[in-house]
Amino acid sequence: MLKVRFLGHSCFTLSDGTHTVVIDPFISGNPVCPVKAADLKVDGVLVSHGHSDHLGDAIPIAKRCGATIVANHEIASFCAGQGAPAHGMHIGGARQFPFAWVKLTPAWHGSGIDYQGQMVYGGMPSGFVVRMGGRTVYHPGDTGLFGDMELIGRLHPLDLALLPIGDNYTMGPDDAVEAVRMLKPKRVVPMHYSTFDLIKQDGAAFAKRLEGLAPCTVLKPGETLEL
Ligand code: NI
Ligand code: MN
Repeated sequence: MLKVRFLGHSCFTLSDGTHTVVIDPFISGNPVCPVKAADLKVDGVLVSHGHSDHLGDAIPIAKRCGATIVANHEIASFCAGQGAPAHGMHIGGARQFPFAWVKLTPAWHGSGIDYQGQMVYGGMPSGFVVRMGGRTVYHPGDTGLFGDMELIGRLHPLDLALLPIGDNYTMGPDDAVEAVRMLKPKRVVPMHYSTFDLIKQDGAAFAKRLEGLAPCTVLKPGETLEL
């Protein structure tokens, strides 16, 4: 059993009843996030890339909870430098943590960290395959469509794919439909849309386009899906 709670934008918590991880905790400054960063109790914090709408509150959450930040080596080093527990990995690598099995996957995007008015190098952006509570979930981070999604879906049969549909910075709905064809997940949840006007999309219309491909659940921020 796995509970997947959407907190708006690309932020989700995954809970198996024993452990909880948060992915891309953009909470402070996220206009649609229904919780406060201080309310989260987590064991792991997965950060897909360095942009502020993904790194978000990762450092204060990890420090307060004693949770491990899992990210690429560059972001993990940056977070460790800020005093947060952090574990660096890189694309293609997987590791069993006490709270989940995590594999870093490629993403076509940027990863710079905005820090004190400078852009700090944040390595290559990533996505995640996470296995927890007997379920396998793909969180691609911010990415455009790429053909190796077929490989990700074949190597890791997916119970759930969380897919960006906001366009402009990531895949839009057209490319996300193609991603579903390649990933062949058992279920889809759209993300990274309608947080701001620039990435406004119709989640229900996207779900309708997936009819015959995969069931799609459109979660409102704060809602939970049980797998
Ligand atoms: Ni980004
Ligand atoms: Mn983003």
